[in-house]
Amino acid sequence: MSTSVAIVGTGYVGLTTGACLAHLGHRVVCADIDPDRVHTLQGGSVPFYEPGLAELVAEGTSSGRLRFVLGGAAAAADADLVFLCVPTPQADDGSVDLSYVENAARSIAAALRPGAVVVNKSTVPVGSAAIVERIIDRDDVSVVSNPEFLREGSAVSDFLHPDRVVIGADSAEAGRRVAALYQSVEAPVLVTDPASAETIKYAANAFLATKISFVNAIAAVCEAVGADIIDVVRGLGLDRRIGSEFLRPGPGWGGSCFPKDTRALVAIAESGGYDFKLLRGVIDSNAEQQARMLAKVRDALGGELAGATIAAWGLAFKANTDDVRDSPAVSIVESLVAAGACVRAYDPQATVALPGVEQVPSALDACDGADVLVVLTEWPEFIGADLGGVAARLRRRAVVDTRNVLDPGEAGRVGLRLIGVGR
Ligand code: UGA
Repeated sequence: MSTSVAIVGTGYVGLTTGACLAHLGHRVVCADIDPDRVHTLQGGSVPFYEPGLAELVAEGTSSGRLRFVLGGAAAAADADLVFLCVPTPQADDGSVDLSYVENAARSIAAALRPGAVVVNKSTVPVGSAAIVERIIDRDDVSVVSNPEFLREGSAVSDFLHPDRVVIGADSAEAGRRVAALYQSVEAPVLVTDPASAETIKYAANAFLATKISFVNAIAAVCEAVGADIIDVVRGLGLDRRIGSEFLRPGPGWGGSCFPKDTRALVAIAESGGYDFKLLRGVIDSNAEQQARMLAKVRDALGGELAGATIAAWGLAFKANTDDVRDSPAVSIVESLVAAGACVRAYDPQATVALPGVEQVPSALDACDGADVLVVLTEWPEFIGADLGGVAARLRRRAVVDTRNVLDPGEAGRVGLRLIGVGR
């Protein structure tokens, strides 16, 4: 069954949702308040890097099932279901700034068709469905929560092959209509109340962040006792109760979601009178993880960062994205510069403009004239990098690999000292 859908907000969540729903056969109009962005999308370009998305946008546009318009009201007027996919940035006190969601709700309220369903897809604090309902203030319109679980870099595949679809609805009929959108997607659909759906989203991100911090802590233990994190993680992950995913140690988790959502969940808990000590500890240990990586670079340089030139591979917060929001790589690079080092950085997609950082066009270029190399993002091209070329260029022939992507055997053969995480 084909449904007419409006999407308000064309960031990676909104655009992925729109393009994928069009791919599933629905008629989709995506709206944004930024005229430049709408223009870019109408011209067939995707304004950010997300694998597979440009192809789906092209498919939707040429089939006529995907269109782009300026402003939420224009999109909402003809839609049965309207998705709010606008940013929910962090306010100064760690809580969530709901102003984009509120403005989007206000902008569509009068334009909504009788019987329309408004769907909150943005990550919003518990109770936000009720807030949107109050702003829309129409008896003939229902508000449903349908959180997204899309990872940047694999958002299209996460949308089309999800582990589950979560729908939080007070109205069973509205819940059924949202569930019907996903009819051709093979995944369990969990229908619950809005507060539970909103909590599932925060709990999932907080749990995954905790899992990574736990493994980063175990990596520190491995270093202390001479164990190898690679084998330890394999042994852990084979326990089906634990599972093997999100167990890769690294420079700490980052991105536009985990840092914001963990702090928001602490704030949400606090406002309900619960001190979420466990999650506060996870956030603190994530900051420590970055500091530990910095210390490894300092050690590789013989104890002094000031005056050193450091090659950095990776700026994005993880591979397969050009996103540098809350990127541990960027934050470590900034700390290196603050300590008096110069950084020659290479990233296949991401760019930053930072004083003291020169961005160069290739991984080997970054090593030219550098003392040591630090690998910060797990881009596939680093895995098979020419380590002989690296060794020939680095003055100190040492590499800090915060993602454990380089091959220790090969590093040894070419005379590079490889300092990994947890091994
Ligand atoms: C995350 C969630 O995985 C999505 O399910 C969720 O929908 C999304 O946030 C969101 O709330 O919008 P994303 O931020 O794109 O997705 O990135 P992840 O793949 O989850 O990675 C987050 C951070 O954890 C990155 O810095 C990554 O490098 C790090 N990480 C991940 C590790 O250090 N180790 C791992 O094993 C996995």
